Amino acid sequence: MSKLRLAVLGTGYIARIHAEAARSQADVELVAVVNHHEDSMRPFAAQFGIPRQYTSLDDLIAEGGVDAISINSPNYLHAPQSIRALQAGIHVMVEKPMAMNAREARQMMNASELSGAKLMVAHCWRFDDEVRWLKQQLDEDRIGPIVRTKGSGVHVYWGPSGWFTEARYAGGGALADMGIHAIDTARFLLGDPQPVEVYADIRTEYGDYDVDDTGVILITWDTGATSLIESGWWQPHTDGPEASTQIYGKRGFARLFPTYLTVPDPLEQRVVRIESGFPETRDPHCPQRMYDTQLAYFADCIQQDRTPVPGGIEGWINLKIVDAAYESSRTQKVVDL
Ligand SMILES: NC(=O)c1ccc[n+]([C@@H]2O[C@H](COP(=O)([O-])OP(=O)(O)OC[C@H]3O[C@@H](n4cnc5c(N)ncnc54)[C@H](O)[C@@H]3O)[C@@H](O)[C@H]2O)c1
Repeated sequence: MSKLRLAVLGTGYIARIHAEAARSQADVELVAVVNHHEDSMRPFAAQFGIPRQYTSLDDLIAEGGVDAISINSPNYLHAPQSIRALQAGIHVMVEKPMAMNAREARQMMNASELSGAKLMVAHCWRFDDEVRWLKQQLDEDRIGPIVRTKGSGVHVYWGPSGWFTEARYAGGGALADMGIHAIDTARFLLGDPQPVEVYADIRTEYGDYDVDDTGVILITWDTGATSLIESGWWQPHTDGPEASTQIYGKRGFARLFPTYLTVPDPLEQRVVRIESGFPETRDPHCPQRMYDTQLAYFADCIQQDRTPVPGGIEGWINLKIVDAAYESSRTQKVVDL
């Protein structure tokens, strides 16, 4: 089988991680890079040995010779760039949040359906070893039907700067940036249920910008379970690191980061802790291996002609929840989906 010819768009923080991931895959060849700033593109191309460099996506498309692209630009560019690539028949893996809002996400899904090019959304936590271990435990019904979850997408005494903090480039603040990791992780662990209702209180309390930096979101799923999500930047506390999630089942409790289960042992009349075997703390919390696994899955979906999950649908549902949360916070009402 011939190698997948991959391009990377953007040369910032996450593009570097995806370029590193490409290096780890025997069946992926990083053939091109796109960035409107030549100055930052050249050292990036040199570091990763990328032969073809373009200051515009259109130039790359005109020249061809690319099967797939990893889109790592600021959020406002995700939809137009993804749609442009999909229309040219190039498979797309786009960073989270998939777009500025659910309407744009829908347009991206339409472009993928029309062209047949695949659309994957880089909801990376689905590819983490600990998340997968916990999902396996839940699938084996170790804690019974899930009643509720509580998850965090929070930065403590830190927050991003630049385009992340401008609504016109980012769409939203900490909810769109960090809360979405906790939303997707909860949804994945619950088995991808449909959201039915969303209630939220989202505010700007810690910085001087036009996006949010603290929020609580309550999602009711069609299974009857609820998910409480906390989002934030510059917070004085978090219950756990990015995407950490607590799961309350009818017969036990499960926790991600640190990852374990607690279940009662009726014979001994005590609660037993089932360890995952992963270390209590991780450094870094976002390991390169998670992104390597994610890229390997994207390449595999293309080579095996399978629909990626998380794909457009998962990214779109997450953005429907984000949109509904902002609306709920604005109107102080529950939003029906
Ligand atoms: N999944 C994760 O763990 C994770 C982590 C960080 C960021 N992200 C997401 O990745 C995306 C990028 O974030 P980042 O932290 O890398 O940001 P960044 O600011 O470090 O990088 C953005 C890059 O896009 C480039 N760019 C801007 N306009 C462009 C254009 N018109 N054409 C080509 N390139 C252009 C910039 O030059 C820069 O190289 C965001 O959507 C963010 O939410 C995901």
